[in-house]
Amino acid sequence: MLEMLKHAHSGFRWIVLILLLVTIFNAFKKRKGNQVWSDGDQKLALYTFISTHIQLLLGLILYFISPYVTFDMADKLSRFYSVEHISLMVIGIALITVGYIKAKKAAEGKKAKTIFTFFLIGLILILLRIPWPGMGLGANWF
Ligand code: HEM
Repeated sequence: MLEMLKHAHSGFRWIVLILLLVTIFNAFKKRKGNQVWSDGDQKLALYTFISTHIQLLLGLILYFISPYVTFDMADKLSRFYSVEHISLMVIGIALITVGYIKAKKAAEGKKAKTIFTFFLIGLILILLRIPWPGMGLGANWF
């Protein structure tokens, strides 16, 4: 169960990261070119928003079963997964959520800018606390 979830959570990161990059790039392009924000653009943002929430759900389950989450602040691995990883990921996903909702309600001319700003900050926070192989955090590429 733990191994299966770890692989799902680890592999799903790539879908989340690719969707975030595509959505941010699309919003940047629309904003720069003063182009209309279409239903398709909002749908792309929706799929990205959903992918972050699936990752959040997988992460939350892992949080309860992972042997790394022991709240031992003297241990680097435990501190990372018990506090650092969850904190930045939750803040990042919260910003993406707020950005998606704000963009939905925003005036036509402000939608692209809202998605661009919130999703970019969310992505940066997520990137700051992803455990990459080689960081000594027991993580893999997939
Ligand atoms: C976009 C958000 C997230 C990304 C991209 C992400 C990415 C990752 C990656 C790459 C790993 C290493 C997996 C491996 O190779 O073994 C990992 C592990 C872990 N993540 Fe996340 N994560 C996210 C959100 C969360 C959240 C919100 C939580 C908690 C609520 C969480 C809890 C965990 C835990 C507990 C582990 C360690 C599992 C173990 O090895 O025992 N993650 N995460």
